[in-house]
Amino acid sequence: MKITILTLFPEMFTALSASILGRAQKEGKLELTIVNIRDYTEDKHLKCDDYPFGGGAGMVMMAQPVGSAIEAVDPDHTARRIYLSPKGATFTQQKVFELVGQEHLVLLCGHYEGVDQRAIDLFIDEEVSIGDYVLTGGELPAMVVVDCVARYVDGVLSPESLVQESFSENLLEYPQYTRPVEYRGLRVPDVLRSGNHAEIDKWRREQSVAVTKKQRPDLLEGKS
Ligand code: ADE
Repeated sequence: MKITILTLFPEMFTALSASILGRAQKEGKLELTIVNIRDYTEDKHLKCDDYPFGGGAGMVMMAQPVGSAIEAVDPDHTARRIYLSPKGATFTQQKVFELVGQEHLVLLCGHYEGVDQRAIDLFIDEEVSIGDYVLTGGELPAMVVVDCVARYVDGVLSPESLVQESFSENLLEYPQYTRPVEYRGLRVPDVLRSGNHAEIDKWRREQSVAVTKKQRPDLLEGKS
């Protein structure tokens, strides 16, 4: 899968070279390209932002460098073009599954007070927010999207890691334990050491329901 990120701060994306995502790129499963929007400005001082018309605090990213960068990386508009913005639809696991089916994603990161609306109107397919809070820019949200989507790219994780995890079937994941058997007086539940897999599955299912009821009852709404 191909993901292209457009940003004014490419250095922020070094985090994506670590761990599982780093390995996925080395193995050619994930093709991640970080593009500096500044490389596309036609301004002779390499400016990419300017004061907002109508006044107000901060700066707005100019339409030209953003538009030219998008056209350069996706000339035939075959990619799904997403602008990370607190105004977007909230990012969910369902959206992750929808995006995994795409061959190429283009993620546009805004910064400062956002991007000139004309660049959004002309070049963007959809706006996505990672939650109801405001970050200084779209870079961290873009990393969230890359991480969530890349986990489902073939071969990035083992299939077993993906079958039973939070949000599958609208349930949160059951508690996990590893050695030692006892830590500060708390013991691993006996059933997990029983070797009885039917009982283990039953216990995990019950725990999933219980933890979801306690922490996220909204996920169970509409389920019997
Ligand atoms: N940019 C700033 N805040 C954001 C958010 N919550 N989601 C996506 N992009 C953002």
